[in-house]
Amino acid sequence: MDDPKLVEDIVHALDIEGGSAKRRPVHTIGIGATGVFEPSPVAKDFCTAEHFQPTEKPLEVAVRFSNGMGLVKEHDGWSDVRGMAVRFKLSNDRATDLISMTLPVFFAPTPETFLQFATAARPKECNRETPWQKIRDFLKLQIPMPDPYPGQETRPNEGATEFADKHAYAQPAVLQASVIGAPVSYVRASYHAVHTFIVTDPDGTDRWVRFNWQPIAGVLNTNPLDPPVGVYLKEDLEKRLAHGIERFSLMMTIGETGDDFNDSTKQWPPHRKRVMMGLLTLNDVPKDQEAHAEKLSFNPWLLTDGIRPSEDPVLKIRKDVYEFSSNRRGGIPCPFSGTEG
Ligand code: HEM
Repeated sequence: MDDPKLVEDIVHALDIEGGSAKRRPVHTIGIGATGVFEPSPVAKDFCTAEHFQPTEKPLEVAVRFSNGMGLVKEHDGWSDVRGMAVRFKLSNDRATDLISMTLPVFFAPTPETFLQFATAARPKECNRETPWQKIRDFLKLQIPMPDPYPGQETRPNEGATEFADKHAYAQPAVLQASVIGAPVSYVRASYHAVHTFIVTDPDGTDRWVRFNWQPIAGVLNTNPLDPPVGVYLKEDLEKRLAHGIERFSLMMTIGETGDDFNDSTKQWPPHRKRVMMGLLTLNDVPKDQEAHAEKLSFNPWLLTDGIRPSEDPVLKIRKDVYEFSSNRRGGIPCPFSGTEG
């Protein structure tokens, strides 16, 4: 168990006005979908985990897509990181999770520095920059602060940018988060599991890898100059899956000597080998969203033989942070609280 005070402090630092302790402190708004996963023909050569083995009947999956912010009120059109949590249902009532988001890197290399970041990035009052302030930003080689959306009074951008000015490790994630925008659909974004995991192949060889999901329909954002107002992402997914299917490829990038395996603020060079590990097909949005999404408790440590976590300290603390948060909001089942179901 990680330092329980640190775990609690981190969750409290994520709690914001407009959120609720009865809900997730981040990724509060979301929608569950179900479907199947079929491994690619080569997946088994790289990893012995059950979901990568050939099978006659594709594995069932439960997915929750989410908006990253911790507000109970839904603002789909606002620029925000989006999440995709996937649970692969294995044999004998076991499961394994893969949790990812639309940023390829994380904000901080350790739990302690993440606590500092989360505290600094608590939403603050936001104002529209004047044209002169924007010109000054450009001259300082900085991206000007985006104009607040109608009705947006506070946001994390100001505090996060100030923090990144002083802490170089936060710059890649803060910069990308500040320009990320809003997707036209949860299934038109790519999602990254960010941390490094270790996969074992049938010969017993270990590889240090990072996973990401690529939408078969392609990535498409809304027009930032004319952002959609209100709520549209849930309805979009319901409509798409009422009439058809949506797919994602699971890609696995293989790290090489010199790549950082334990620090998810560091991106790997773009030319690393990538392996297509399988195809996810979504085909339904279950009616009972409480059971199929809101009460679910994903955890990046819910792994299975053939995949293990790296030594990344942020990945390590997420095990207890997610359990604490799930217990607090009454999520079931929490895979690590002895209530596995
Ligand atoms: C120190 C680092 C992190 C902390 C403290 C943190 C904290 C949390 C917490 C407390 C929750 C709610 C859990 C629950 O109540 O079930 C959550 C959900 C989530 N987090 Fe993180 N997180 C961290 C890093 C990440 C990273 C690196 C990713 C992406 C790879 C990520 C993606 C998500 C997603 C997608 C959800 C929603 C899961 C769902 O739909 O149930 N988080 N996070």
